[in-house]
Amino acid sequence: MTVSGNVKHARRKEILKELGLTPLWRARVPDTPNHASPAVTGEHVSISQAQVNAGAEDRRSTILRMDWDQLKMSVEGCIACPLCQSRSRTVFGIGDRNADWLYVGEGPGVQEDATGEPFVGPAGKLLDNMLAAINLKRGRNVYIANIVKCRPPGNRNPNSHEAQQCEPYLARQIALIQPKLIIALGKVAAQNLLNTDATLAALRGRLHEHSGIPVIVTYHPAYLLRTLADKAKAWEDLCFARSTMQSLQSGDLIPTYDR
Ligand code: URA
Repeated sequence: MTVSGNVKHARRKEILKELGLTPLWRARVPDTPNHASPAVTGEHVSISQAQVNAGAEDRRSTILRMDWDQLKMSVEGCIACPLCQSRSRTVFGIGDRNADWLYVGEGPGVQEDATGEPFVGPAGKLLDNMLAAINLKRGRNVYIANIVKCRPPGNRNPNSHEAQQCEPYLARQIALIQPKLIIALGKVAAQNLLNTDATLAALRGRLHEHSGIPVIVTYHPAYLLRTLADKAKAWEDLCFARSTMQSLQSGDLIPTYDR
């Protein structure tokens, strides 16, 4: 590391310490049948599943108390899952922190990894058009985030461990924004937000709920770029979302959620 790198690192450590965020989050070795009992075997110290769970709970509750600056800094320094090893940049999320609309995608792609901003590639252009179709604009009453903040290599779907490690960050963003409506873009976003294995086809066209907030599921824009035939169905979803928001804003809607 260079001298300026060392100074930056020391400063960062200082700030994190002041915020009560040290040590940086490090993934624990999950318990497996091979390491079932807590024991010191040579250089490997195994830990029990209960300890892993307690650590995850501590981490989650710390994250759930963070303000925006703390949260952003914590995401930037996160090493809780292996995606940190291949990322160029974390992709925190972007937009109006008081937005009524929260759009949630799956995870950064190559261009998002390079720029640190969600949905800036071809799928992002289509998302901007989808927003414009219902009179919305990125950053104006809209916030955009992802299930995971780091790019899965080769644009694969994030696995359940990665999604689970990142979940407290999105949970805190949702709690801070308090959107009126969440739009889940694609199967990965929908399944993680709704904690279900159901197909996208089964989830579309109904109102769901996450942490007391209505959720509407639609296609991921990258899927729509490949499957033009489903654009009409995406338009139906947008119209459903727009009328749901109108009801929510006017106080007319008393949601009866479908889980
Ligand atoms: N796809 C996503 O799901 N999220 C992004 O940020 C970019 C592409």
